[in-house]
Amino acid sequence: MDSYHFSSFFLCMITGFLVLIPPYYSTTLASAAAATPQHASEPGAIETGGKNYSKVCDAARFEALGLRKDDFAYCDSSLPYPARVKDLVGRMTLVEKILQLGDRAQGVGRIGLPKYGWWSEALHGIAVTGHATYFGDVVPAATSFPNVILAAASFNESLWKKIGQAVSTEGRAMYNLGHTGLNFWSPNVNVVRDPRWGRVLETPGEDPFVVGRYAVNFVRGMQDVEGTENVQDLDSRPLKVSTCCKHYAAYDLDNWFGVSRLHFDARVTEQDMVETFVRPFEMCVKEGDASSIMCSYNRVNGVPACADAKLLSQTLRNDWQLHGYIVSDCDSVEVMHERLKWLGDTAEDAVGQAMKAGLDLDCGLGNLNYYENYTLSAVAQGKVRESDIDNALKNLYMVLMRAGFFDNIEAYENLGLNDICTKEHIHLAADAARQAIVLLKNNLTLPLDPKKYKDVVLVGPHAKATKAMIGNYEGIPCRYVSPLDAIAKDVRVDYHEGCDVHCRSSRSVRPAVEAAKKAKATIIVAGLGLEVEREELDRNDLLLPGFQTELINRVAEASAGPVVLVIMAGGCVDVSFAQNNPKIGAILWAGYPGQEGGQAIADVIFGRHNPGGRLPLTWYKNEYVDALPMTSMQLRPNDQLGYPGRTYKFFNGTSLYPFGHGMSYTQFSYSRKNDSGIFLPIKVDNHHLCKLPSDKANATVDSHCPSISVDALGCKEEISFEVDVTNVGKVDGDDVVLVYSKPPKGVADAPLKQLVAFQRVYVESGKTSSVKFSLNACKALNLVEKTAYVVLHSGEHAIVVGDGDSAVSFPVEIELQL
Ligand SMILES: *[C@@H]1O[C@H](CO)[C@@H](O)[C@H](O)[C@H]1NC(C)=O
Ligand SMILES: *[C@@H]1O[C@H](CO)[C@@H](O)[C@H](O)[C@H]1NC(C)=O
Ligand SMILES: *[C@@H]1O[C@H](CO)[C@@H](O)[C@H](O)[C@H]1NC(C)=O
Ligand SMILES: *[C@@H]1O[C@H](CO)[C@@H](O)[C@H](O)[C@H]1NC(C)=O
Ligand SMILES: *[C@@H]1O[C@H](CO)[C@@H](O)[C@H](O)[C@H]1NC(C)=O
Ligand SMILES: *[C@@H]1O[C@H](CO)[C@@H](O)[C@H](O)[C@H]1NC(C)=O
Repeated sequence: MDSYHFSSFFLCMITGFLVLIPPYYSTTLASAAAATPQHASEPGAIETGGKNYSKVCDAARFEALGLRKDDFAYCDSSLPYPARVKDLVGRMTLVEKILQLGDRAQGVGRIGLPKYGWWSEALHGIAVTGHATYFGDVVPAATSFPNVILAAASFNESLWKKIGQAVSTEGRAMYNLGHTGLNFWSPNVNVVRDPRWGRVLETPGEDPFVVGRYAVNFVRGMQDVEGTENVQDLDSRPLKVSTCCKHYAAYDLDNWFGVSRLHFDARVTEQDMVETFVRPFEMCVKEGDASSIMCSYNRVNGVPACADAKLLSQTLRNDWQLHGYIVSDCDSVEVMHERLKWLGDTAEDAVGQAMKAGLDLDCGLGNLNYYENYTLSAVAQGKVRESDIDNALKNLYMVLMRAGFFDNIEAYENLGLNDICTKEHIHLAADAARQAIVLLKNNLTLPLDPKKYKDVVLVGPHAKATKAMIGNYEGIPCRYVSPLDAIAKDVRVDYHEGCDVHCRSSRSVRPAVEAAKKAKATIIVAGLGLEVEREELDRNDLLLPGFQTELINRVAEASAGPVVLVIMAGGCVDVSFAQNNPKIGAILWAGYPGQEGGQAIADVIFGRHNPGGRLPLTWYKNEYVDALPMTSMQLRPNDQLGYPGRTYKFFNGTSLYPFGHGMSYTQFSYSRKNDSGIFLPIKVDNHHLCKLPSDKANATVDSHCPSISVDALGCKEEISFEVDVTNVGKVDGDDVVLVYSKPPKGVADAPLKQLVAFQRVYVESGKTSSVKFSLNACKALNLVEKTAYVVLHSGEHAIVVGDGDSAVSFPVEIELQL
């Protein structure tokens, strides 16, 4: 979706649709239950006369409609999907077809096709957002996993996949119960280019490779039906549920000093597009087989993303071979007409441009849906052809065929309430938060021994957090375990809020300060919240809101014992004051940790879990945002304008905590058995592929083939190596091994380094684990030139494993041989 802010007000007026009100106003079990009656007419799943059916092609269902299932070839399961879809679409009149192009598809009773709600969300659990999902009566809740920015910090691919599997099981169960559709418009895979973005919490961070790997694992976890992962014919590969990678493309600005995503024109270079903005989408489609992509509101170099034929038809469908449908961000076709007045569009022009560009489905927030309401007149005006409509419907129904909307999928037919909020899923939610929490600072303070520190003062706006822990795109969780709930199981707690997230006054701080004076230990849980970072709300600075810093400093100053600071936030927070304060012994970052978050925090603080999470984002100092406007899309530094580079790849200044930072209660050391470099000759059959690198300022042709375009090379050469990770400390723990490549010297504007592989490993104290890597040379060492060609340079590259003093590095010499 998106945009419940943009028109939640609008929606409330029209439908009284309570659950779409931004979560921090409303979502309690009571309000969700109250909202149920309004939803009941628009669930995702199939109803006929009040009875739910788990599939369209149910003989009894047809009978109830006065029809015979066998008269409809689209229900003939012996036919291939394309033939069935052709039959279905071929039966509809033009007007009927058009009524299926909005997210609340109206169905065609005459031919047995039910209504269908396309819009559900499952970013980190089945969410209340969307027209097709509702909680209440039969399904009161679903498991709420950590927000994605935190889950990403685990750097554990199998965890990401497992979360997808759990969420899709709950989704399929809710579908069987008539409470959701089969299409989930998640995950959000926009790269975090700027730390101020309000939606950082929804994403896997700033590195396109990590974002892409997250997407592939989550999408595969959600979509894959066991045993069909490798089916070659992507038109028949079944889908457990359908996912959607969004928002395509170059979108990571919501509302910054009056610049809104609705009219923002992202001026981007082809180089940044290929290297950063579209890379996760490419991985999502090519490696994840995602069955949907959502285009974004913003323009890309002048053209609205949802009307950009190059982005949609050419790139997604032709180049990457998307097998799925393309959906608009909600009302983005309307935005083209009403807000942008793009090309002086009429409503019909906008519909024609979007459909020609390749947009299949229009999500509309209110009861005006551009596709549904203006396509007929657009056809009459010659701006849309019926064959374009047929094509869109074909893309849509292929996905529903694969997802078992027509036939259901046997393995999932019996999923129901017992498969939602299960013990396993709740454990997984807690485990995910535990694996991901990042230890930013530890000056011999953590873990706290609960036997030694029996009385703890617990302070701060999030000390008793419940709803704040589930962030946005949230559902109704099975339960909450707040920090207070969990910590109170270990020690006696004296709790003082101090102030709320806005912390507009320092007056309420005193009781917390007084309590800290007597405390054996002090735990402060502070940070951001949807009050200051969310969809449609970017930040202006990277500081804690209001008087929070003062609260923390005064409580720390007064504390008799050790002080632990826990930060809940999606985006980075400049906590220099705490990093440098000797009274604050430890800092943890807990993202928005989900329904079990408090337990995970307590497990880390009291040492039952040794933290292993790593920052998926650079934590800049606040001064960073004064150096460049949010509207500058460029990743590389701009010397003329004095803008620093963005993300760890291009920012060469001092950050507060770098990308990949994260400590442990133990220490790891790295070594490589074979300390020689790697020499890798690559045979080039066609010398026409060789080129002078355009980004090597003073290229001296010291090789017959100085660089080569990788798309044509199809290189199979692997860089294989093994790193020994030894736990040299006293406790068992997880380490995340980060592998970067560094370009040869002299390549202008190249990234400082780029992440090319990572692996999380568990190593017992005193033991060594050998971690093997085998990297495709062209994938690991390629560089995107200014021309947007992806090239491999001959010469000396480097592989660097880890960061700082403990890093192991070695050269990789590439020789392109003619
Ligand atoms: C849009 O079309 C739908 C379906 O025909 C109709 O129910 C709705 O009232 C229309 N909305 C407007 C604002 O015309
Ligand atoms: C760490 O603790 C020592 C001993 O209390 C103190 O001298 C030092 O300043 C602390 N360092 C930081 C960065 O807090
Ligand atoms: C960092 O990048 C800026 C911007 O390109 C450049 O002017 C500066 O010299 C660089 N500093 C270092 C230490 O490399
Ligand atoms: C070390 O690596 C080099 C280059 O890949 C290889 O030739 C050599 O056999 C390796 N040595 C050992 C002991 O594995
Ligand atoms: C390239 O050559 C020019 C002229 O010889 C020189 O001024 C410049 O510093 C060189 N640039 C690099 C990156 O070596
Ligand atoms: C990664 O996550 C999986 C799934 O939760 C878990 O079984 C595994 O132990 C984790 N790996 C590490 C090294 O922590």
